[in-house]
Amino acid sequence: MSNLKIIPAIRTENITYAVRDIIVLANEVAKTGKEMLYLNIGDPNIYDFEPPRAMIEATYKAMLDNKNGYSPSSGIRPALDSIEREADRKGIKNVQDIFITTGASEAIELALTALVNEGENVLTPTPGYPLYTAISSKLQAMENPYYLDEDNGWQPDIEDIKSKVNDKTKAIIIINPNNPTGSNASYETLKSLVDFAVEHNLVILADEIYDKLLFDDVELTSIASINPNASVITFGGLSKNYMVPGFRIGWGIVSGENEILVDYIEAINKMLRARLSANHPEQYGIPVALDGDNEHLVLAMEKLTRRRNMTVEMLNAIDGISCIKPEGAFYAFPKVDIKNEDSHFISELIKETGVVVVPGSGFGQQPGTRHFRVVFLPQDEVLEKAYKSIGSFYQKYKNEFE
Ligand SMILES: Cc1ncc(COP(=O)(O)O)c(C=O)c1O
Repeated sequence: MSNLKIIPAIRTENITYAVRDIIVLANEVAKTGKEMLYLNIGDPNIYDFEPPRAMIEATYKAMLDNKNGYSPSSGIRPALDSIEREADRKGIKNVQDIFITTGASEAIELALTALVNEGENVLTPTPGYPLYTAISSKLQAMENPYYLDEDNGWQPDIEDIKSKVNDKTKAIIIINPNNPTGSNASYETLKSLVDFAVEHNLVILADEIYDKLLFDDVELTSIASINPNASVITFGGLSKNYMVPGFRIGWGIVSGENEILVDYIEAINKMLRARLSANHPEQYGIPVALDGDNEHLVLAMEKLTRRRNMTVEMLNAIDGISCIKPEGAFYAFPKVDIKNEDSHFISELIKETGVVVVPGSGFGQQPGTRHFRVVFLPQDEVLEKAYKSIGSFYQKYKNEFE
């Protein structure tokens, strides 16, 4: 029998996912008995957030009614209809197709896979959610990051976008509100971005999975609503707004001109059919969620607003750390004044204090800058303790390592 090692495909070589990768070190530290404070994963259920009960009951009922087989590949009709109503509420008019997937993650993967060939590229927000670079890497697409401007509240830098587009660019991604910065792009920025995409015949991949988690009186413009003729896929899902990431339910809404999109839509649908269907019973929760009263968000936003304020105040009080105030989602992306890589700073932080946050390099950042991502879902006491530890650790780190 040969004992040669099985060689994995080259396409997996550059796939990283910092949010989960950091857990390996955190687990090692936890084994030593240290008290750990986890501010690293965007899962509301491990903290004190609860999904709407009626949505859970609808799913449970669907299971009892034996809706346990495969669903149609694009999803069940009542759920698709409710997503269409939601699209209408978001001002998205020219809807050409809707498909329900295993989390928004699958919708994103299908949209990119159906569009991008090896060697082509997609304009990708930096900092941004690492799934996009992981999928591009898998597709052997070229990286084409564009920057969000920290000095301008993390707005997408339109001039940078214009300088990066080339004849192999197929799409532009916008994550709004953004993970990891919590920023919300202004109407003017989004309008420039749409005009640019139309001019270059790019598909806009609009990730709006946090669109109901907005602070203060912030209003979100759904980018597809700006120009009904632009080719847009808007991603959404139940994971964040409805606090059931374990349901693995997301969707894509394709809008724009039918003649332009028809082949692309068919390519996506071929892949939807080949993978059979998304989780079936959970889809019965979608209309109940989207057409419901969203009462669960009142308490959730109250907690999140308090925790967001605490995050910004306590981090900005540390000399050497500065944090732009997030306008949505539950992340902040503070800048830290160090010379070493942020991955070194964070490894030392985890080992010394048990506070787990994710290094900025995992999301992309302007060369020479250093950040880390904080998830401010945890309870107030946990956050308070964590930020105090970060403050004293920062001074110690500067003295010891820089
Ligand atoms: C910006 C963004 N898009 C998509 C996802 C994935 O969502 P889902 O759980 O629906 O796959 C996440 C999860 O953290 C996210 O932050």
